[in-house]
Amino acid sequence: MVKVTVCGAAGGIGQPLSLLLKQSPLITHLSLYDIVNTPGVAADLSHINTQSKVTGHVGKDQLEEAIKDSDVVVIPAGVPRKPGMSRDDLFKINAGIVRDLAAAAAKFAPKAFMLIISNPVNSTVPIVAEVFKAMNVYDPRRIFGVTTLDVVRASTFVAELIQADPKSLRVPVVGGHSGVTILPLLSQVSGTEKLSQEQIEKVTHRIQFGGDEVVKAKDGAGSATLSMALAGARFTLNVVEAAVGGNLNIVECTYVDLDADKEGAADTKKLVGEDVEFFSVPVQLGPNGVEKILPIGQLNKFEEGLFASAVPELKGNIVKGSKFITEEPKL
Ligand code: NAD
Ligand code: LMR
Repeated sequence: MVKVTVCGAAGGIGQPLSLLLKQSPLITHLSLYDIVNTPGVAADLSHINTQSKVTGHVGKDQLEEAIKDSDVVVIPAGVPRKPGMSRDDLFKINAGIVRDLAAAAAKFAPKAFMLIISNPVNSTVPIVAEVFKAMNVYDPRRIFGVTTLDVVRASTFVAELIQADPKSLRVPVVGGHSGVTILPLLSQVSGTEKLSQEQIEKVTHRIQFGGDEVVKAKDGAGSATLSMALAGARFTLNVVEAAVGGNLNIVECTYVDLDADKEGAADTKKLVGEDVEFFSVPVQLGPNGVEKILPIGQLNKFEEGLFASAVPELKGNIVKGSKFITEEPKL
């Protein structure tokens, strides 16, 4: 039995993500929570002839019922960007939304894998971690920032340039999930050696600012939803597949507390600094979530420069998220 709850299920990401999850034979109960419209979304999805039961829950009064005993809680709840905004501009609204959902999960589903999509991910993941710590149920192996869209984008953009198959090309993207904190490691992808330095710099910038490309094109109507739903479903299903399907061959880059595997993260800590608590790293998934943190691997000089710009910004984002709970606890 696998219960997956989507919080923000009636939204631009929530609906297509739920549709993709409904197709999985691994999920037995798909629980849809939002502050609006979930009864309709649930009724609609429940007519699809796959095995999972779909339930819709709307409003705070139904949050306990929605989340209780979930194995996985996916959170794409909150507001998206408009042109001219940074992800950090969303903090004011989304931090409180994520805090309250995390508190409910810590209370009613403390063992759930928490998959955080709501921006700014660099700060919302530390918020969830601090809520779980405050409620004495913290296990760093079970909380993930979903950065899969950066990997999906990187694979698409790089494949276009080197004429590879975008579906099978894997470009590692580490760091965080905003602008210069997004660190694609193109030197580790075979085929990129034929690109000029100018091409490398251009595509790196495109991967780092791919979200802005969509925000600009949507022109006030939100940010990436469909590509994010695909990326979110891929990550969710991989977590489930490793946890209950017993598949130990799944590696995804994801933003985690590096304490989830201190030994595995030792080299990354040496590179980014002992005081950087959260970083997106290649993670081998397993029955308890993070099975192993794998090494980031070799960087070239250009990538070392990218790391140097990323770390101070990322540290600020992490502290901002953590302090939101430790300095104003409202659990
Ligand atoms: P949206 O506005 O279309 O949907 C958000 C949904 O959240 C809405 O249905 C809204 O009712 C719901 N919601 C608001 N407050 C809630 C609460 N307290 N509890 C439950 N649900 C609540 O937005 P979207 O386009 O789906 O984006 C959602 C979030 O995902 C944004 O913060 C966006 O920046 C982020 N995002 C992250 C990534 C990533 O790569 N991690 C990619 C794209 C978007
Ligand atoms: C993205 O990368 O598309 C998301 O983080 C949404 C955004 O605000 O860009």
